Amino acid sequence: MHTEIGHNIEEAAALLRAGSLVAIPTETVYGLAGNALNEDAVLSIFKAKNRPFFDPLIVHTHSIDEIRKHVSEIPDRLLPLMERYMPGPLTVLLRRKSVIPDIVTSGLERAAFRIPDHELTLSLLRSLDFPLAAPSANPFGYISPTSAAHVYAQMNGVIPYILDGGDCRVGIESTIVGVEGDAIIVYRLGGLSLEQIQSLVGEVRVVSESSSDPSAPGMLTSHYAPRKPLIIGDIKELIHTYRDKKIAVISFSERYDVPHQYILSPSGDIDEAAKKLFAAMREMDATDADLIIAKSLPEGGLGRAVNDRLKRASHPL
Ligand code: TXA
Ligand code: MG
Repeated sequence: MHTEIGHNIEEAAALLRAGSLVAIPTETVYGLAGNALNEDAVLSIFKAKNRPFFDPLIVHTHSIDEIRKHVSEIPDRLLPLMERYMPGPLTVLLRRKSVIPDIVTSGLERAAFRIPDHELTLSLLRSLDFPLAAPSANPFGYISPTSAAHVYAQMNGVIPYILDGGDCRVGIESTIVGVEGDAIIVYRLGGLSLEQIQSLVGEVRVVSESSSDPSAPGMLTSHYAPRKPLIIGDIKELIHTYRDKKIAVISFSERYDVPHQYILSPSGDIDEAAKKLFAAMREMDATDADLIIAKSLPEGGLGRAVNDRLKRASHPL
């Protein structure tokens, strides 16, 4: 299959109406989109990504009204968050109506909904009369794509069209939130920070624990991972420990004397570091280094989500 990269919303819409897949830009990462109400289209998403069926997909729409059509209710506790941060890097879990096929949610009663904050994709969604199921547009387990070129590198020949919306502005996947009883639960740390959520709704519970249990969807321990071993810790010490290896370093703002390195934000800006993280992992993965060394960021703001991704991406030699 020939894979085209372009800005043509009409062409993307026509392909999606015909049940094909299209990679779409969002402010977080690129998605691999198909008609969420068409089981065959959704099935082909899982196949294209080589993704296990127990890992459910996020449903993308252009408005809260559109979300309402596909759910039985929106808990009062979630509405302020949705009204403030949709469109935005927020995904909410809501009890679905039966129009959302089982395959989208892996059979779970709640479906994940999100309104991406990207003009091209919002226009695309407005031109369709169905929502789009879209996981990140990477093969299962690999690093999420934050540019059309990243998508092309892995989906060339697999999907017909990549809608090019430039580099993703946030660069890290959406924060997934839902309610259990009276509590607001954060199931995945992401592009909307805990501080932003808490300043609107008060304390929340974070259950985004690392797990290798496939019944905890999407929270698999090894995820977002480069192919080379990635080791997290004190960079100076690790450079010494692995001094007989060829090393690539991903640092926050400091420079080291190593063959390859990617400085996430020379000015020490956490948001910029989050935006660059996945590009850094890809770039260092493409070097001839034996291993990648990185250090956790300060925990505030998006630092928490970056550290979560680093932890999931890391595996020892
Ligand atoms: O920013 C994002 O969220 C991006 C863009 C493309 O929107 N999408 C994304 O999708 O990161 P994906 O499939 O790579 O990760 C979505 C995760 C799943 O792994 C799963 O853990 C969780 O969302 N999820 C989806 N539906 C769920 C559901 N019904 N219940 C619980 N978790 C769900
Ligand atoms: Mg993903």
